[in-house]
Amino acid sequence: MSSNTASTDATDSQPDDRGRPMSSGDIAALYDDMAERYARFDWANRLFSGPLRARAFGDAEGRVLDVACGTGTNFRYLPSTAQLVGVDISADMAEAARAELARLGRGGTVYRMDAQQLEFPDDSFDTVISALSTCTFPDPVAALDEMARVCRPDGRVLLLEHGRSDTELVGRFQDWRADAHYEEHACRWTQDPLAHFPATDLTVVDSEEFFLGMVTVIEARPETL
Ligand SMILES: C[S@@+](CC[C@H](N)C(=O)[O-])C[C@H]1O[C@@H](n2cnc3c(N)ncnc32)[C@H](O)[C@@H]1O
Repeated sequence: MSSNTASTDATDSQPDDRGRPMSSGDIAALYDDMAERYARFDWANRLFSGPLRARAFGDAEGRVLDVACGTGTNFRYLPSTAQLVGVDISADMAEAARAELARLGRGGTVYRMDAQQLEFPDDSFDTVISALSTCTFPDPVAALDEMARVCRPDGRVLLLEHGRSDTELVGRFQDWRADAHYEEHACRWTQDPLAHFPATDLTVVDSEEFFLGMVTVIEARPETL
C-alpha cells in the first residue's frame, strides 16, 4: 500500500445526475487549496457537528477506517481503543489529519488514497466510518461498495451524511445555490444520501435525520450477512 497514491486522472470524471463533472483530480486540488482553512476552522465545524459525530462514531470498534477523513475532525470522537486508519484524496487534507492525530496524542496512520479504489484487502476493518463525503465522491456507489468490501462481513459501516432539507423553503434555497455550492466545495448538497444504497453492497440497518432533514446518521452492514 502506498501512502502517497491517488487517482488524479482528469479523465475519471463521472457526471452526477445534475451533470456536475469534477474529476477526482479536480477535487483533490480543490481540497488541497482549502485544507489550511478547514483545519483553522475545525473548532467551528465541531460546534455544530461534534455531538452528531459522537453519536455516529462513538462506539466504533477495533480496526477503524475513516474514509475521506479530511482534517481528521472525526478522530477525537472515536474510542481511544480504536486502531485508526484514515484516507483522503487530498494530500494537504491528509497532512492536516496527521497533525490532528499528533495533537490528540493518539496512534494511527493516514494515507492519501481514492475512496473509490481503496488499497486495502477485503474484510480488513472492523468498522468503516465516513462523514460528509458521499456528496463529494464522483461515484458515491463505487466508494460505498469499496467500504463494504474492506469491512469485515459482520462489521459496520457508519456514516454521517448530508443532503437536501425536507423543509421545502430550505430545500429550495439549496436547489438555488446547488451549482455555486458544487463549484466552491465539489459538494452535491441537494443529494439524498440514502438513495445511493439500493445500488450498493451495503444494507442500511438504521438511519436518523437531524437539522431539518439535512443531516443523516446511517448504520449499514455489508450485504453478504
Ligand atoms: C466535506 S470534506 C469532509 C471531511 C471530513 N470527513 C469531515 O467530516 O470533516 C470532503 C472530503 O472528502 C475528500 N474526498 C473527496 N473525494 C474523495 C475521494 N474520491 N477519495 C477520498 N477522499 C475524497 C476531500 O478531499 C475532503 O477532505
